[in-house]
Amino acid sequence: MIRRLLGAAMLAAVLAGGAHAQDSAPATPAVKAFDVKANFRNICGFCHEDYGRHTGKGPQLMNSESTDQALFNRIKKGMPGRMAAFGGVYSDDQIWLIVKFIRNLKPGEEPQNP
Ligand code: HEC
Repeated sequence: MIRRLLGAAMLAAVLAGGAHAQDSAPATPAVKAFDVKANFRNICGFCHEDYGRHTGKGPQLMNSESTDQALFNRIKKGMPGRMAAFGGVYSDDQIWLIVKFIRNLKPGEEPQNP
């Protein structure tokens, strides 16, 4: 009986230890590691030239008059026949970071990751 209790206590300690080890690992939420700039260059840049600072196959995105929500929706849901939906590629958090990236675009200034 005592042995079983000890066993359970040890198991609990190991489980707790394991959980603790995970808690103390460097907290780097996936969304922080998301390289918006590289993603934009490689995937969106084909149509949105110069990081969306110039019109190409797609419209210029810098200084767009659309609301943040409209930019978000276009990226997430796309537009049939014109732009793919990226909701299956990026999480909502990542899409908001892309919106932030677009909002930060300035002429003649190297775009930065938000
Ligand atoms: C195949 C070409 C193509 C690709 C690739 C593409 N887009 Fe587009 N995008 C378009 C076109 C065309 C439109 C205009 C559609 C419309 O009328 O809203 C557009 C519209 C948009 C808009 C709305 C602009 C506004 O002012 O409302 C946003 C935001 C946008 N794209 C972001 C992106 C992002 C971010 C990516 C990459 C993840 C991307 N696009 C990839 C072609 C593309």
